[in-house]
Formats: sequence, structure tokens, C-alpha cells
Amino acid sequence: MNDLPALVLPVVRQLTTEHFRSGEAIARQLNCSRASVHNAIRAAQLAGLDVHAVHGRGYRLAAPISWLDAERLGTEFARRGITLELHDQLASTNAWLLHWAAHTAPQRALVCAEWQGQGRGRRGRRWQSGLGDALTFSYLWRSARPAAQLSGLSLAVGVALVEGLRTFGLTHAQVKWPNDILIGGAKLAGVLIELASDNLSNDVLAPCSAVIGIGLNLRGGTVLSESVGQPVTDLEAHLGTVDRNALLLTLVDALDAALSRFEQTGFSAFHDAWHACHAHQALPVSLQPGQGEAISGVMLGVDAQGALLLQTPDGIRTFHSGEVSLRALTP
Ligand code: BTN
Repeated sequence: MNDLPALVLPVVRQLTTEHFRSGEAIARQLNCSRASVHNAIRAAQLAGLDVHAVHGRGYRLAAPISWLDAERLGTEFARRGITLELHDQLASTNAWLLHWAAHTAPQRALVCAEWQGQGRGRRGRRWQSGLGDALTFSYLWRSARPAAQLSGLSLAVGVALVEGLRTFGLTHAQVKWPNDILIGGAKLAGVLIELASDNLSNDVLAPCSAVIGIGLNLRGGTVLSESVGQPVTDLEAHLGTVDRNALLLTLVDALDAALSRFEQTGFSAFHDAWHACHAHQALPVSLQPGQGEAISGVMLGVDAQGALLLQTPDGIRTFHSGEVSLRALTP
């Protein structure tokens, strides 16, 4: 699924779980035709939204959507000195913020979208979620550190998310190397960090800007498990209905605090906390490099830079995050 027709979000915002709303009433409200409303509902359904459509009555949401609230979030983030952009839809919040960062973006910026047509995942994969099913945002961090001193950043971000989720009431989230958040072995959230183009200078000591993209499933985990072929979970399965605005504020606060700490110390300050919530410590895992055969061993954790340490029959081997993806093996 790519871009949605521009009318989809305005139409869906007219719907609730309580009452049916007729296509005619929505069309009148939005000053468009009933056929456009019908097409927008169809596109929303194709984007994964569960809408009940009953002839003669109209449309109703199967489950409520916690919309991002521009006024509330604008006020809260302005107080924190963070410039916020809220979009109904973008191809990718990371792509958008990378472009913005290269031009005029301020020191601290946050971009959120209700829908991403081409959400990016690690290693060139797509990141998918149904309409209304996820929290997707990207945060710009301008560090004084050069790119070479950012190793372990995605792990520190993972720790921040676990801590943020804990203050939000979720006590048992864990990290998977290098950048997933799991609950009970199923993926709840993923992190994609991309460096902004001001890092492309030849000066290896030049300060660095990073775009930290986070996608967190709020619902739809079961459907996603089938489509991505790995266990996926969602926050509502563990916490019930979630206010996405409160969640976003909690996670960005946790992220911001972690980034300040990382700026001072690098990954070392997160080393112990990372191991304390590591899902695969001392367990058998398999590492898949971009090319070649998978390497199996026992996960020993990470070193002071955040590189993975694997006990193999040939001794302890070290892997860096761009190189491999990790799969748990049944012991
Ligand atoms: C992964 O698990 O592979 C990383 C997923 C990262 C997804 C988020 S959603 C917000 C931000 N914008 C993107 O295009 N990707 C990240």
C-alpha cells in the first residue's frame, strides 16, 4: 500500500465507534461527493482499517482511533523546545526529516505521521502497519559527536524505549540486538537510525545529525505476524486502549534524556541497562549476514561499543549492527 487518496484521513476522522454516519452526511460536511466518501472508505479498508459499512445506515469504526492531537502536542513539544510536524500521511517520516534536516530543520525536530505509504525498515526492508494501528515518528538529534562515535546509539535508543514504556505501564518489554523492542519474543517496535547528509563531509571529526525513526505497533499484531512471517505483538494486547499522544510524549521524553546521556558518555552508560533487558542473553541464536551462511552460537551480549559478542565453536566473534540480522533458536 502506498499513498492514500487525500480524502481518506478527513473522512475517517468523521467516524466513531458509537454511531453510524451516513455517506451523505460526511459528503456534506467535507463538501465532496458521496462517491468520493465511498472511495475513501474503501481505501481506508485496504489500508487495514476495520470499518463497518451497512447499506442505508452508513459507516462506523470497529475500534476507536486515538488520533494525534496537533494542539495538545504542539503546546507540549513547544514547551520542551522541540519543533513538531504532524502529517496525515508521508511516504516515510525518516525520509521527510532527513530532507528537512539537510535544509532548514531546527536543532530538535520531531515528525509524526498517521500513515506512512513507504515506511522504511532496517536493511532495506519495508515497515508496515495498518491505518490507525501504530505510532510512527522520527526525531532529529544533532550531536557534537562525529559519526564514528555513535556506535551503540541504536542500543541506547532501545533502552530509552524500554524505560519509556515502563513508565507508561508496560513492565516487561525487552531489547533485541541491535534495535528491536520485544514482548515475550514478539516484535513490538523497531528503530531505524539514519545519518543526515551533513555527515557526508570528508572531516571525520565533523559533528553529526541523526534521524531516529521509531515504529511501534498499537494493534494489529496478529495480522502483521502473518504478513511479515515473524511473531509480532502490539501494545493494546498488553495495556488495552492507549492514548497515542501520551505515549508519544512519554517516549520522546525518555529518548531525549537518553540522548543527552549518550552525548556525554556514549554507549558505556547504557551497557548494564541494556543487558538487564536483553531478550537473548546466554541463549542460542543464529546470525544471518547480508551474504553467505548463517552463523550459530550463544549470545554473550555486547561489548562497550554495542557490538554483538557471539560464542561460536571457533571462539568469541564480534559483529557490528549493519552486518547481520539475528534470529533466536530454540534451545
Ligand atoms: C525495523 O524494525 O526494521 C525498523 C523500523 C523503523 C520504522 C520507523 S516508522 C517511523 C520511521 N520512518 C520510517 O520510514 N521508518 C521509521
